[in-house]
Amino acid sequence: MHLDNYHEYQSFIYPLMPSEELSPTLLETLLETFSLELASEIKYPYYSFTENILSLHSNPDLNFTSAKNMKPLSFDFRKEWDSLRPFSKKDPLIKALGNQRDLVLDATCGTGKDTLSFLKLGLKVISYERSPLLAPLLWDAQRRAPELELDIRFEDARNCHERPDVIFLDPMFPPKKKKALPKKEMVMFSHLIGKDEDQEELLKWALKTAKKRVVVKRPLWADSSPTISYKGTRVKYDTYIV
Ligand SMILES: C[S@@+](CC[C@H](N)C(=O)[O-])C[C@H]1O[C@@H](n2cnc3c(N)ncnc32)[C@H](O)[C@@H]1O
Repeated sequence: MHLDNYHEYQSFIYPLMPSEELSPTLLETLLETFSLELASEIKYPYYSFTENILSLHSNPDLNFTSAKNMKPLSFDFRKEWDSLRPFSKKDPLIKALGNQRDLVLDATCGTGKDTLSFLKLGLKVISYERSPLLAPLLWDAQRRAPELELDIRFEDARNCHERPDVIFLDPMFPPKKKKALPKKEMVMFSHLIGKDEDQEELLKWALKTAKKRVVVKRPLWADSSPTISYKGTRVKYDTYIV
């Protein structure tokens, strides 16, 4: 989603088709804060509410293989948190973050997984997610895991007024070749959210804003010229010392 179209996109009203009763407060938040609208007819994308979980349903007729049989999208911070293993000092992400990392800005929050990794490392994290489609899902995941205090702000990261030590970027990347298709969740992401076509501008902003460094998570095959790159098995962490 290009930034120029963001406000126009944000003003869309998405349908909510709950299959169980929501508490009046929850319903009010979803309808008023996130501009969802109760609906009885399926019109994609739409949200459902089942077993206390808000999910986003994408059109099953999408014309690409990985979209078939795609499960509705919802986030479970508690499950994700419990599945995170302690990082070793040799982990490429740890090396990329460096030692001066009192405040980390996750400028591309997405599913919240990287944010949770930073929290698990005991870091102070502020996260930004600008997609109005993801905002209700992230908010709902936080509602179901109030003990995990994520600071997610639903707007463009470039509106951040704090100056973090480290800015972390994980922009959307297109698959290089058919064999290397990204996870289903990421396919659904790029369909619903777009390709982050302004990622070069976001990097320029981050380089001016971070106090110490900018870390960009990229596929191993991506062309880049950072100060140093720490490679993992599937991704690399391109690190720009500022
Ligand atoms: C590949 S996903 C990030 C995945 C994420 N690291 C995770 O752990 O799930 C990229 C996300 O960044 C968001 N994004 C891209 N540019 C942004 C910006 N300037 N401000 C806020 N969010 C942005 C997109 O809407 C998308 O949800």
